[in-house]
Amino acid sequence: MNYEQQIKKLAAEKNAVILAHNYQPPEIQDVADICGDSLELARLAKEAKESTLVLCGVYFMAETAKILSPEKTVLIPRPEAGCPLADQLTPEIVRQAKAANPGSPFVVYVNSNAATKAECDITCTSANAAAVAASLPEKKILFGPDANLAGWVQRQLPDKEIIPVPADGGCPTHHNFTVRDVESARRAYPDATIICHPECSAAVQQACDLVGSTGYMVRNCGSADEWVILTEKGIVHPLEKRYPDTVFHVMDTAVCPNMKLIELSDLYVTLRDGVYPVQVADHIAGKARMAIEKMIEASK
Ligand code: 13P
Repeated sequence: MNYEQQIKKLAAEKNAVILAHNYQPPEIQDVADICGDSLELARLAKEAKESTLVLCGVYFMAETAKILSPEKTVLIPRPEAGCPLADQLTPEIVRQAKAANPGSPFVVYVNSNAATKAECDITCTSANAAAVAASLPEKKILFGPDANLAGWVQRQLPDKEIIPVPADGGCPTHHNFTVRDVESARRAYPDATIICHPECSAAVQQACDLVGSTGYMVRNCGSADEWVILTEKGIVHPLEKRYPDTVFHVMDTAVCPNMKLIELSDLYVTLRDGVYPVQVADHIAGKARMAIEKMIEASK
């Protein structure tokens, strides 16, 4: 039996479901039961009937799954798969921002650590960030750690005041895209529609035709025949599977090294040995759960 067959067999024996993010390597997405964006993975983690969830993604995604399903075993094949964006917002920075802005709620991007979520009022993903901010009655809203996503929300909600915390938080992979990349893509592929992730800079967002989460891309990139996609290059796999007659261009250098750590052999060992279980301390999980469940409620 090859790895794929052994993984499927072990998952069935152990009553496990395999969830993979849209940026995961193609072979991991292909063996997974379900692929999706951060919001879809959070929802699926809550709804799954299986007793074990295997999260193929970065650590905050596995933590989110554990927070939403404390009674389940949540495993991540490579626990060192971190997120440099998440590490830019500490609980202390949230407390300081709230103390300096009394009465303003803090919307925290799911790309954050559990202890940080526990200090915040509500989470969001890139798929629902504007809807989450719009659902709050307050005008002034603290938002972090991604300042580009904060800016995108601000442009959609001009009546709100969205304050990025920290002022310059960002994802190194998305930070690398430039307006020059958009301009050269327009010259190279004049018929293509250009879409970027909202973690790209404001200038890049404004130079593109569309802005959207990875889930938005998967749902909507059937509406034109040719696309240039500015996000982590793993997205091309679910796009090509779903739209086999559509042409997609991605940048080969747009790689999140953390998203590329998991290999089939790791996933096999995870299922065989039950490694590596994710734990979140009760006092953190309880508060973080409230923030995530508020988001799920607000984006129904
Ligand atoms: P999505 O929610 O769009 O899948 O984005 C996740 C992410 O980590 C972007 O860097």
